[in-house]
Amino acid sequence: MEPIQGKIRILIVDDVPEGREGLARLLSFEPDMDVIGFASTGAEALEQAQTLKPDVILMDINMPDMDGITATEKITKLVPTSVIMISVQSDRDYMRRAMQVGAMDFLPKPPSADELYATVRNAYIRKPKPTMVAGKTGGTDEGPKDAGKIIVVYSPQGGAGATTLAVNIASGIMDEQHRTVLIDANMQFGDVAVHLAMRNERNILDLAKAADDLDLEVIENVLGTHGTGLRLLAAPQKPQEAELVTPNSLIKILDALSQRFGYVVVDTSLHLDDISLNLFDIADMLVFVGIPTLPCVRNTKVVLDYLAQFEEFDQDKIFFVMNRVPTDRKSGALDPEAIAKTLKVPIQCTIPSSEKQMLDSLVRGVPAIVNTRQSPGREINQMVELIKKQLVGEEEIETAEQDTSRRSGFKGLLGSGR
Ligand SMILES: Nc1ncnc2c1ncn2[C@@H]1O[C@H](COP(=O)(O)OP(=O)(O)OP(=O)(O)O)[C@@H](O)[C@H]1O
Ligand SMILES: [Mg+2]
Repeated sequence: MEPIQGKIRILIVDDVPEGREGLARLLSFEPDMDVIGFASTGAEALEQAQTLKPDVILMDINMPDMDGITATEKITKLVPTSVIMISVQSDRDYMRRAMQVGAMDFLPKPPSADELYATVRNAYIRKPKPTMVAGKTGGTDEGPKDAGKIIVVYSPQGGAGATTLAVNIASGIMDEQHRTVLIDANMQFGDVAVHLAMRNERNILDLAKAADDLDLEVIENVLGTHGTGLRLLAAPQKPQEAELVTPNSLIKILDALSQRFGYVVVDTSLHLDDISLNLFDIADMLVFVGIPTLPCVRNTKVVLDYLAQFEEFDQDKIFFVMNRVPTDRKSGALDPEAIAKTLKVPIQCTIPSSEKQMLDSLVRGVPAIVNTRQSPGREINQMVELIKKQLVGEEEIETAEQDTSRRSGFKGLLGSGR
């Protein structure tokens, strides 16, 4: 995350003059914030956004011509900016709709000063990079020369936080050099789209059907784009559609996406089946998510023993994270150190249990990692930095060995998949 340098350039959009003035007055007290323009209609906002290229737009929802949601949808496709919706509408569904079309966050009307400052700074830090704006690249025309890194996130225990961490890893790891796609491979009960407050009309099933001919246009049409620029390949919408995505088609999809994205992050279900085994095999890193409970330790041991049977499985690519670790020592939860000893696997990171922050980020569709100053965003950010470092380290070793044959074909723990 880049530090705040210079001033945050803000455009205020509201059809009521008192609304615009009220916000401008509040912002004038902050030395790092600068109101660079005003708009009183949606159309004017669109024009001003393209001309002024503000860092942050404070957007009213109800306006006479184009409503704030439509204006946001158009603006975020054209300009790398963070839109914050401001509305008296407290309906969360309404706000989620705004987030689905590209808004970064929302505030009540009128916001308190502290709420306004914190949300503006937060939105500024998360402002999409120019190259990430949908319609410009957001994706796939010129993929990286080398295949992108595949990070598979798995937990042997339901509800341990695999999806939460997958969403956060993908959001935290993407940068201008590494366009990132998050794949929801929990075929029956995938909920990554819910975590990101996105719609998932098109999904992995559409790519599976076209698996033999995955050209740029097909991929672009199916991937969703989060307000931050992260791309999403959602899971099927109905559990009965899960089996239509075969392990073989999944491998082809991963192959195509890793040619075009710097990082491919994959969320999985806890089931050990052909899909998950192929994913474990293909992964450059397997982020294994545990929680400090006896059932989870038991399941982890079962899965690790199972994987140890496969000679071709590289145990070193397991990155073990202990999630939901209570901060209260008297909680009675198992000690992560003792778990590591029992399982004979080092724990690379521990993420504290933070019910309130996690619930809030789920409701907003904003990954907890955006708030790096507070737990658990701080620890999640440290985890992502470590993941990046390990993957880069691995790349350097590969280059030194001049291993050009990396992932020349997917062998698969199950042969070549089915
Ligand atoms: N560190 C944490 N502290 C508190 N709550 C957390 C933490 N991590 C995840 N959660 C919460 O736990 C719940 C389950 O998380 P999540 O859906 O990510 O788990 P999962 O392993 O993907 O579950 P599933 O087995 O359903 O796929 C969510 O409500 C999430 O907000
Ligand atoms: Mg999940």
